[in-house]
Amino acid sequence: MIIVTGASGQLGRAVVEDLLELVLADQVGVSVRDPERVADLRDRGVRVRQGDYASLGPSIEGATALLLVSAPLIGDAVTQAHRAAIDAAVAAGVKRVYYTSHMGAHPDSPFPPMRGHAATEHMLAASGLAHTVLRNGFYANTVARLLGPALQSGELRIPEDGAVAWTTHADLAAATARLLADDRPGRPAPAHTDPSTRTLTNDGRGRSSSPTGPTTHVVTDDGRDRSSSLTGPTAHILTGERPHGPTPALTGPAAVDMAEAAEIAARITGRPIRRVVVPADEFKQGLPEPTATMMAGMFEASRRGEFRPAGPELANLIGRPATSLEDYLKQVL
Ligand SMILES: NC(=O)c1ccc[n+]([C@@H]2O[C@H](COP(=O)([O-])OP(=O)(O)OC[C@H]3O[C@@H](n4cnc5c(N)ncnc54)[C@H](OP(=O)(O)O)[C@@H]3O)[C@@H](O)[C@H]2O)c1
Repeated sequence: MIIVTGASGQLGRAVVEDLLELVLADQVGVSVRDPERVADLRDRGVRVRQGDYASLGPSIEGATALLLVSAPLIGDAVTQAHRAAIDAAVAAGVKRVYYTSHMGAHPDSPFPPMRGHAATEHMLAASGLAHTVLRNGFYANTVARLLGPALQSGELRIPEDGAVAWTTHADLAAATARLLADDRPGRPAPAHTDPSTRTLTNDGRGRSSSPTGPTTHVVTDDGRDRSSSLTGPTAHILTGERPHGPTPALTGPAAVDMAEAAEIAARITGRPIRRVVVPADEFKQGLPEPTATMMAGMFEASRRGEFRPAGPELANLIGRPATSLEDYLKQVL
């Protein structure tokens, strides 16, 4: 069974919706703090159980693949929550954990969540669990939040920033659901390069001895060949074998800074926005801690280019171009 945590949140919920397009509902379970918030999923045949990261226990029983959606916490709180969740996954005998990390995860990042992701990646590596670390791109909804007040005032007053490969929840959810759906017992290994090099393991799953060739054939259970969507560097990293460790950054198609984002928003809405660079200390005034430190750290990390490299891997996984910031803003502004 595939179990999704954080299914009452934006990403987890979207993953479940996409999963239900790919697998039967009785193969999907969710672990949520408040089952009433996802009562509709129970009505649709999904196993709904109560669980907190501190005590996932019975809510992840029987999980072959577990999506551990990172907790919206920082510092000791996030490492404690994830430590407990990883311990629970070991105790439950979970076959593989998928963890929603972030591009730029690093213990020295000025953006506090990146330090929590780096610590969690380290804990997963030391846990002995088979695991896949999804290095998700920065959510595009952050841009919409930053632009909201600017669209009213006509001025975007934030510290100097750097370009970011903004990424939508919808694209990340689609990619995650595909990986989870491929990770079911009895599924063939999803990729091989050449039939002559394909070997079968004891469990009947295909294994490629050389998954790095130029043409990667991917055949789904229903016989559809989706080779075209899973070729290039991602194919062997993410599907040649069961994906292990960190993926490449899963990002939108291009890096965009906030000055350009303001121009895009002005074009879409017809309301001009002047981008004004303000010192970090001025920006932090009036913001509560830890939000002030978080936001200042985000701009600093973006100036360092931690969220800049845009790659093809997300588009390869979902089999279509990843959503551009402009197309996303057209949907939400
Ligand atoms: N890639 C990025 O740019 C980016 C940006 C921001 C955040 N993130 C990370 O991505 C995660 C998912 O994003 P999202 O947009 O889906 O966030 P979200 O809508 O805030 O959802 C967070 C989910 O985590 C659950 N949760 C919180 N604390 C928990 C706990 N102690 N035990 C069990 N579940 C708990 C929430 O449950 P309740 O509904 O019960 O509160 C909710 O389902 C975030 O939590 C954060 O770690 C990434």
